[in-house]
Amino acid sequence: MESQLTILILAAGLGTRMRSTRAKVLHRAGGRALIEHVVNTARELTTPDRISVVVGHQADEVKRLLEPAGVRFVHQEEQKGTGHAVLACRDSAPAEGHVLILYGDCPLIAPSTLRRLYETQAASAAAATLITTELDDPTGYGRVLTNPDGSVSAIVEHRAADSTQLAIRQINSGIYCFVADALWRHLSEIRPDNPAAEYYLTDIVALLNEAGQHVQALPVADPAEVLGINNRVELAEVDRIFRARKVRQVMLDGVTVERPETVTIDADVHIGRDTVIGPFAQLLAGTRIGEQCRVGACSILTQTELGDAVEIGPFTVVADSRIDSGGVVGPFARLRPGNEIAAGARIGNFVELKKTRFGAGSKANHLTYLGDTEVGAGVNIGAGSITCNYDGSRKHATRIGDGAFVGSNSTLVAPVEVGEGAYLAAGSVITDAVPSGALGLGRARQLVKEGWVDRKKGQ
Ligand code: UD1
Ligand code: CA
Repeated sequence: MESQLTILILAAGLGTRMRSTRAKVLHRAGGRALIEHVVNTARELTTPDRISVVVGHQADEVKRLLEPAGVRFVHQEEQKGTGHAVLACRDSAPAEGHVLILYGDCPLIAPSTLRRLYETQAASAAAATLITTELDDPTGYGRVLTNPDGSVSAIVEHRAADSTQLAIRQINSGIYCFVADALWRHLSEIRPDNPAAEYYLTDIVALLNEAGQHVQALPVADPAEVLGINNRVELAEVDRIFRARKVRQVMLDGVTVERPETVTIDADVHIGRDTVIGPFAQLLAGTRIGEQCRVGACSILTQTELGDAVEIGPFTVVADSRIDSGGVVGPFARLRPGNEIAAGARIGNFVELKKTRFGAGSKANHLTYLGDTEVGAGVNIGAGSITCNYDGSRKHATRIGDGAFVGSNSTLVAPVEVGEGAYLAAGSVITDAVPSGALGLGRARQLVKEGWVDRKKGQ
């Protein structure tokens, strides 16, 4: 059945009401561009080769984003309205079966609702079925006019509606399923006879009626599913709904979320059971979290992987890094991209890491910067220690062997190597290799001048 279904997604408009230089469908909600949500939903219904996305504004960027999905693209060079956008697909779209039309700015529609739309249409004698809903405030949407038998006679756009029509709360969602033959036959009859001089796809409903064809409505109970985004206020509202859906899902899957209304979890994030997420945490971009972890309040994890029982203290920022089971990071730590923290390691407050491998059970508990560094297992990095990995033009590596002890406030000038079990005296500037088992001491020897204070006062 689904091999007979073609899906067209309209995404060519700029979206003037967004007041943006960016095409509307590239704006993000729920951690993804609007168009990505719609394409993902479409892919649950049919194969990518039967999905066409109509592109126009910033077509190259939209195509680059969607290329991995394997969908087709149709160019609408000038955007003369939704009817004109569908017309651009006529030559490449199959003439048989059904055509499902989705708008790129309506990302909350569920695949199950679309399946119901298709099945309702396929089981009927109608030429088209469209999803409608009742809104308390229908401002901006097309209103659904009905025949005495309950079928849809026409859709009148908000701008063209008279006062009686404006009072109608049943709106057009912009999601339709057409018999392909009826769509392609009547589409070219649409005229741009409205103040905007646009070809409104919605005019096809009246044209089908005139041709003696039947159009039916499929009302959905949850108006959230068909919210269309035209401005940034609506964008924020849709984002909020996506967030709430995801947080609810992770809670039902066994994750404790404290103050869930404050937490941001992207759609593609996975979290294991019995993990606890603190208030205002943000878990972004494919982050994967194991079981029994704790992510503290206000922490931000991006593209990060946590093993089991990892503890992330509050106000910790981690990007593109991996922390193995039992690791403790934060509060107030910053992991820039490219770190691997082995099991049971501890990274404490005001520690910054970049491209650093940090061995099992090692500790850097306070005020440290390690960049381009390899730290073995069981190493202790004293407070205030830093690697000087950048010489002004190039980055250099630091290696610290298993069991080494780096005294507080050490400065390791890379490239440099500290052997297994070596000690660095506190406050050292280390520029040369310190072999295994040695003490590296690189600071001026302390002088003690007995009676100096009295002598100074006596002057
Ligand atoms: C449209 C419907 C309206 C419905 C509402 C639901 C029409 C004429 N009106 O209005 O009945 O209630 O959606 O949200 O269809 N697009 C193109 N090419 C164009 C014009 C638009 O690809 O030439 C795309 C846009 O990028 C957008 C979608 O079509 O993703 C809808 O266009 P938009 O201008 O937002 O339509 P609305 O005025 O919201
Ligand atoms: Ca819209």
